[in-house]
Amino acid sequence: VIRNARALTPDFVPEELWHRDGQIGALSAALRPLVQGSRGTHVIITGPSGVGKTTLARHVVQELERKAFDVTSGYVNCISDSTHSQALSALLRDSGRGADLRPEGTPTSAFIDRLRRLDSQFVALVDEVDILEDPLMLSALYDVSNVTLVLITVNEDDLLADLDSRVQSRLMSAQRIHLEKYHHAELCDILQARVDVGLAPGTVSSLVVERAADIAAGDARTGIVLLGRAVQRAQDEGRTSVTCADVDESRESALRAIHERNVVTLSTHQRVLYEILREAGELSAHELHERYEELAGSPRSQRSRRRYLRGLERYKMIRKLRSGGGTRYEFRGY
Ligand SMILES: Nc1ncnc2c1ncn2[C@@H]1O[C@H](COP(=O)(O)OP(=O)(O)O)[C@@H](O)[C@H]1O
Ligand SMILES: [Mg+2]
Repeated sequence: VIRNARALTPDFVPEELWHRDGQIGALSAALRPLVQGSRGTHVIITGPSGVGKTTLARHVVQELERKAFDVTSGYVNCISDSTHSQALSALLRDSGRGADLRPEGTPTSAFIDRLRRLDSQFVALVDEVDILEDPLMLSALYDVSNVTLVLITVNEDDLLADLDSRVQSRLMSAQRIHLEKYHHAELCDILQARVDVGLAPGTVSSLVVERAADIAAGDARTGIVLLGRAVQRAQDEGRTSVTCADVDESRESALRAIHERNVVTLSTHQRVLYEILREAGELSAHELHERYEELAGSPRSQRSRRRYLRGLERYKMIRKLRSGGGTRYEFRGY
């Protein structure tokens, strides 16, 4: 039944990016100057979870690196590497140009110098950028003349709100690329392509694909995980074809799997806040901060904590409630 199990996981890199031709074109155009050895246009990619933001960025930059000799790229997800030096070190490590620099104890200027001395143009893919603890990293990167920024975030307002006015005004001129949720038919195409790669013919009918697309409501990640679970369920019961009931019955387990996968990527301090709320269920902002300060080894600033909490909200792990008595936080994950 299963030909390539990886095809039905979100980590599988698809050959083809469906229904994003316009965005692929826009990002390629913004980065085109790099082929000639000059800096590209900075880009901010926005859109809800599961619409292909990360995949789009990686896809286009990979193509670019294939075509141009003097382009290097680095990727960092700020959910996992949220401090200034963690993020810079992750960027360099990913590009293969900073393996010798330790994330702890290396001054951030050393990372920046390393980038400046590269004899190539550098594309910095900074994912979930609004979770970055110290947005100064962006100004530091911005000041390196061979660095082109590709910033990825769900909500641009969150990103710009916390930046100092200098960086803010600079990013005003960045090119915006927005990705909407997929339409039903688009999501069906994406899911069908995964099915074709991953499963023997006849395992999943187009009706089943449509059912998964219905439930996923425009979010490709949810659709892919859901189908994967449904296939698993059918297989566990010794059947060679998947039914709509398999999809319906797999909903909870798919959502839980996505949730658990997100928890694993949290950085230490974010994890502390998550655990406090998971245990308590609901807390006032004041109580939450108090408990955090008790538990965290070296507590981060209130501003950083607000960013972490925003990340948790983003992943739908917690909910922020505003009531007469002030802000409260509620655990909502599995
Ligand atoms: N247009 C597309 N064509 C094929 N696969 C896609 C497409 N968009 C998203 N995916 C797949 O859906 C999953 C989620 O995409 P991702 O880029 O991580 O979303 P985001 O970063 O917006 O949350 C990934 O497994 C990705 O391969
Ligand atoms: Mg992403």
